[in-house]
Amino acid sequence: PRVAVVFGGRSSEHAVSCVTAAGVLAALDRSVWDVVPVGITTSGRWVLVEDDPARFALTDGALPEVPDAGPAVALSQDVRSRALRTSGGEDLGGPVDVVLPLLHGPFGEDGTLQGLLELSDTRYVGSGVLASAAGMDKQVMKLLLQGQGLPVGPWTSFRARRWEREREAVVAEVEALGYPVFVKPARAGSSMGITRVGDRAGLDAAVAEAVAHDPKVVVEAALGGREVECGVLADLAGGEPLTSLPGEIEVVDGHDFYDFEAKYLDAGNVRLSCPADLPPDVTAAVRRTAVRVFEAMEAEGLARVDFFVDVERFRASDGAEGIVVNEINTMPGFTPFSMYPRMWAATGLEYPQLVDHLLRLALQ
Ligand code: DAL
Ligand code: MG
Repeated sequence: PRVAVVFGGRSSEHAVSCVTAAGVLAALDRSVWDVVPVGITTSGRWVLVEDDPARFALTDGALPEVPDAGPAVALSQDVRSRALRTSGGEDLGGPVDVVLPLLHGPFGEDGTLQGLLELSDTRYVGSGVLASAAGMDKQVMKLLLQGQGLPVGPWTSFRARRWEREREAVVAEVEALGYPVFVKPARAGSSMGITRVGDRAGLDAAVAEAVAHDPKVVVEAALGGREVECGVLADLAGGEPLTSLPGEIEVVDGHDFYDFEAKYLDAGNVRLSCPADLPPDVTAAVRRTAVRVFEAMEAEGLARVDFFVDVERFRASDGAEGIVVNEINTMPGFTPFSMYPRMWAATGLEYPQLVDHLLRLALQ
């Protein structure tokens, strides 16, 4: 089958998406998959790029980028032909059977691209329009999870306009959460625009930083507990979604939290443990909750669900407390050193098989 691997894009996670694509391009079994690599430039141009994983890998901390060169590619909206075409009308050698949208952040992970693919009747990997859009927006995500009884930490949300007009009221809402708090753009990823704030003095700059990414801001109470993640993958046989063994992130040194630098540029200061060293009943509860989150968000294909886990609290409350959902990522980081594929490898599904599984799901 023909697979268009689409990556890059207009969001601030452009480079992360390129690194993800480098990993996937290298892993795709070319005796099975006919690969069409399509890059989206930072300005939104779709171009056919070189099928060269090394070109988009993370080398010496230099962030890769889709070159603004090469033939333009347009997604045909002809529902009969399902063809990806170059803009000149010369097609790319036949219809594309499936698109692998390896995009993170707005204009890719947020339902917009998924809508385009639905319109053109093209099969694609991962969540549809609703789950993608809702999973991208931390406020909407929390409302959906809370509304379905899933455990979410204390939070508040406001728009930049309200921050300008009613600052003291908003500050009071934030302070009711208790410092420290995390100030985040509602719709971004890879920790872009996020600041950990310890007191009132840090709040203005943190809100300005978040607003640079999104006029909607979410503020969360900093939860104690361990940072644990769990991979969810739809079952090819149509059964209950599969879960990976959970993994744990520990920021060892030099970072306030698991920020962009720690994630991609300074991995030496982060310890990723897969599987996480958790008691079996806690592991089981994390995995169960991950499935509930996946289903509550109407996710499809794959997702990574992120948690804060407090084992003592879990014990003291007989399992009623101690596991809090931080968020879902409908297109989790997929670089070979990212948590999602590492957790699956620890569970027995290696990176190439994982990619294959996702494409087969989309083709069903
Ligand atoms: N947004 C990044 C890619 C992640 O969730 O892994
Ligand atoms: Mg995220």
